[in-house]
Amino acid sequence: MNNEIDDFYSIAPMMGKTDSFFCHLMSFINQNTKIYTEMMHVETIIRTNILEKYKILKNLSNIVIQIAGNSPESFARAAKKASMHGFNEININCGCPSKNVIAGDFGLSLLKKPQLVRECIESIKNEVESTVSVKTRIGINYNNCENLLDDFVNEINLSGVNKFIIHARNGILNNMNTKKNLTIPPLKYERVFDLKKKFTNNHIIINGGFIKTEEIIKYIKKIDGIMIGREAYRNPWIFHKKRLLNIKEKIKIIEKYILSLKYYFNKNTFNKNSLIHIQKLLNGHTGAKSWRQKVGLVHHNKDLQLLLNYIKYYY
Ligand SMILES: Cc1cc2nc3c(=O)[nH]c(=O)nc-3n(C[C@H](O)[C@H](O)[C@H](O)COP(=O)(O)O)c2cc1C
Repeated sequence: MNNEIDDFYSIAPMMGKTDSFFCHLMSFINQNTKIYTEMMHVETIIRTNILEKYKILKNLSNIVIQIAGNSPESFARAAKKASMHGFNEININCGCPSKNVIAGDFGLSLLKKPQLVRECIESIKNEVESTVSVKTRIGINYNNCENLLDDFVNEINLSGVNKFIIHARNGILNNMNTKKNLTIPPLKYERVFDLKKKFTNNHIIINGGFIKTEEIIKYIKKIDGIMIGREAYRNPWIFHKKRLLNIKEKIKIIEKYILSLKYYFNKNTFNKNSLIHIQKLLNGHTGAKSWRQKVGLVHHNKDLQLLLNYIKYYY
């Protein structure tokens, strides 16, 4: 049953959240949970050493790198670099509606350009053996045009890509900030379930508004998997095989994570982002406020031993 859960539920790509440190933290909670990295642009991958950050992880087999862009050549180069760093699944962002992304003509813009996406995928596939998947939305603006997504899936299928992650909400271009577009317009799960009925041979994962990892029986006949975003970040404990952990069990996991950071930062520059992910992890338990303050302090003074001492003393 645990393996089934690990196959069914995954963690959504989130800018500023699913970075290398969050992936590392998750390896102590459940190393089989599939996590999609925050979006990285092809040119950033090609021109910078952004992928070096993922060296903190011993194993990238459960990490999917999410790449954004619109040039087949650049996708191929970025995919090659990602593959050399150990990533073996690449997800293409065709769903981000943010102003900058749309101005750059990638993200959600690509839902309207399935042939270009197909070319990008074919270019990746000529370069690497990695699995490729696509994440997109059910539609654009307030249109209910079924054909847009169906035509997109039909075209991408010609490239041999089988796996789609569908955020069950239209993306709104131009008039709405990205955060608002995570609550409006309303989610339409039925649209994604219908897509699965039409494309039975595709692996289709639904995303948007899910907060539990205990509903396989309810959904297994309708869909191939569920991707969780905000709740996964707020409460990653739901991916632990026990689901409900007491504070001692949580602290033990956090302690292991901090110890590994201490080792890592002996050889690498301290990065305060590593601590943001654990700051709110004890929320709901007694002492959560002091914990947040302590983590905040170490955020500035970089003394991880202080946190380890605190754990020893109080827990
Ligand atoms: C802070 C934040 C950052 C996000 N960044 C990305 C991203 O980089 N790539 C992407 O495809 N989606 C991104 N998303 C959208 C999520 O992947 C997901 O589709 C959305 O949050 C809906 O799922 P949820 O209701 O489970 O949170 C982001 C969402 C949030 C809240």
